Amino acid sequence: MTNDNKQSAKTVLITGASSGFGRAAALRLAQTAGQIILLARRQSRLVELQKVIEQTFPHVKVHSHAMDLRDDVAVDALPTILPETFREVDLLVNNAGLALGLNGAWECSLQEWDDMLMTNCRALVRLTRRLLPGMVERNRGHIINLGSVAGNWPYPGGNVYGATKAFVQQFSRNLRCDLLGKNIRVTNIEPGMADTEFSLVRFSGDKAKADKVYEGTRALSAEDVAETIFWASSLPEHVNINTLEVMPVCQAWAPFAVNREMASPD
Ligand SMILES: NC(=O)c1ccc[n+]([C@@H]2O[C@H](COP(=O)([O-])OP(=O)(O)OC[C@H]3O[C@@H](n4cnc5c(N)ncnc54)[C@H](OP(=O)(O)O)[C@@H]3O)[C@@H](O)[C@H]2O)c1
Repeated sequence: MTNDNKQSAKTVLITGASSGFGRAAALRLAQTAGQIILLARRQSRLVELQKVIEQTFPHVKVHSHAMDLRDDVAVDALPTILPETFREVDLLVNNAGLALGLNGAWECSLQEWDDMLMTNCRALVRLTRRLLPGMVERNRGHIINLGSVAGNWPYPGGNVYGATKAFVQQFSRNLRCDLLGKNIRVTNIEPGMADTEFSLVRFSGDKAKADKVYEGTRALSAEDVAETIFWASSLPEHVNINTLEVMPVCQAWAPFAVNREMASPD
């Protein structure tokens, strides 16, 4: 694979770097990046990851930034409070996100719906909006969003989570339209079932329930998804991967659901 863009000087910002895809992507991208900003709420995890990267890749400068992406004020301030050498972000990986619950829509927690909307949609667009002017000014950049197969394919209990990922998909495409003529790439990566802390978060820390999701499967690993992020970002600058849907071999679509128990009116 050719790799003729400015990899060595690249500044990467990864949201949700404390776990799963974000952590694995940070380690994979560190192989070619110059600077990496790690962002999530759990500071101790970021500090631990920073140490690992600095020891393994001494050429990479790392900045850890603990914050809650649902905090508008913190998101707005981010571009100006980063250390000066980290401010020109070339690659933004909008990875932070979550699913909460798997109940029918009529019995879901509105607070959980709000949390998903705030994190998966509102924070993602806000951070993008804050970093995009710099990319446009430099005429250089790549935004990689983490969508999901749930944004394409409905499933019971996917209600708002799937809708947030459909939003991410269309936002990614619309960004490409706005950015036509500029040297800025936008990619939406849509993983299927992947074994991270995702299900643990979805089921409020119930490990037995989370483990059941992956039982008897060979799900995607965080590293598998990190590889797709790395690949999309390391292609020549004129190549834009718009959408990449990735499933483990053990996963496919269900047939149409038909209920045969509902009685006819008479
Ligand atoms: N695993 C899957 O099956 C799967 C499939 C398709 C798509 N995805 C998507 O892939 C992305 C990464 O998921 P993952 O599987 O790697 O899950 P994960 O292991 O739970 O990681 C989620 C990350 O998001 C961060 N995060 C969540 N809320 C945040 C907030 N308010 N502010 C800042 N950071 C926040 C978490 O960090 P803190 O808790 O430290 O803040 C964590 O680092 C998500 O967008 C998810 O929807 C996952």
